Amino acid sequence: MAAGGGGEGVAASLSEERALFDRELEAVGSRAQWEEVRLRWLGKKRGRVRQHLQTLRDLEGEGRKVWGREVNELKRHVEAALARREAAVKALEASASSLAVDVTLPGRRPAVGALHPVSIVTQEIVEIFTAMGYSVAEGPEIEDDYHNFGALNFPPDHPARDTQDTFFIAGGRLLRTHTSPVQIRTMLEREAPPIRIICPGRVYRNDNDLRHSPMFHQVECLVVDKGVTLGHLKGTLEAFVRKLFRPDTGVRLRPSFFPFTEPSAEVDITCPFCSGGGCRTCSETGWMEILGAGMVDPRVLAGCGIDPAVYSGFAFGLGLDRVAMIRFDIPNIRLLFDNDQRLVGQVRG
Ligand code: DAH
Repeated sequence: MAAGGGGEGVAASLSEERALFDRELEAVGSRAQWEEVRLRWLGKKRGRVRQHLQTLRDLEGEGRKVWGREVNELKRHVEAALARREAAVKALEASASSLAVDVTLPGRRPAVGALHPVSIVTQEIVEIFTAMGYSVAEGPEIEDDYHNFGALNFPPDHPARDTQDTFFIAGGRLLRTHTSPVQIRTMLEREAPPIRIICPGRVYRNDNDLRHSPMFHQVECLVVDKGVTLGHLKGTLEAFVRKLFRPDTGVRLRPSFFPFTEPSAEVDITCPFCSGGGCRTCSETGWMEILGAGMVDPRVLAGCGIDPAVYSGFAFGLGLDRVAMIRFDIPNIRLLFDNDQRLVGQVRG
């Protein structure tokens, strides 16, 4: 042992001991290391403090007194410092274990988004038509009377405007009631035909019940070129609905009226649920009405600077919400707009 007998030397050597202990304790990072240091210094048999105490036996008188006091001081210091360090190491280990990763815990499932049913059918329709050489056109949802009505051959104060349940807004403007104004904007913008476009978008009507929502979606189709006929319209519709629904879907045109087409037709498809046999969804008729169509009225072409003696065209307008409801068997249009994750999440295109 370093400890000697005399006053000064003893004090000096014990202060070195104390510094050595302090350094060892400082390096302690775990309970195991703390226990090692405790044993090395306070161990009953070979602890350093014990060994210093044993040297007392060989001393007498003043030397023994001084040495005894020094060793006791070292002992108290070691005990107190060990106790403090024990608390600190415990706290450290507790916080480390609370931060520890339990690799056996099941992982948290990330919420995976899904496309809205209307977005799914919109994308499909855009794909079907772009594959046939069409381009996508868009127009503003806030329109004016000219694009929404006038240029589409709705005469002023004509009752046909009433069927559109228009939302009028300040400044003589309105929320578009259909996507047909995009036809007008496209024809006015383009230098000359051929034109082959589809225009998906939101439309608005003051109408609200199980089958109608004040905001809904349409896609408009317009083709203008030399020699376009009703046969092209029917062929295009057949190709389209056979891709969108089933390959055996039938198409039927019924005479109808729209101011911007002549002739005009309502278009039915064979019911995708019963293939035309008759079921509850199609009210036992075997058919479902899905869109309005026709040959672009010569007055509309002329109004957009296209010579109807040279060019002709067809157009149709389709309700996307209705298509989504048919495709995914959704009974109520409001379900599409309630933002209920249970509906949006379950549909896969
Ligand atoms: N715009 C019509 C509507 O919303 C639908 C329509 C019918 C569009 C015939 C057309 C068409 O392009 O040719 O009721």
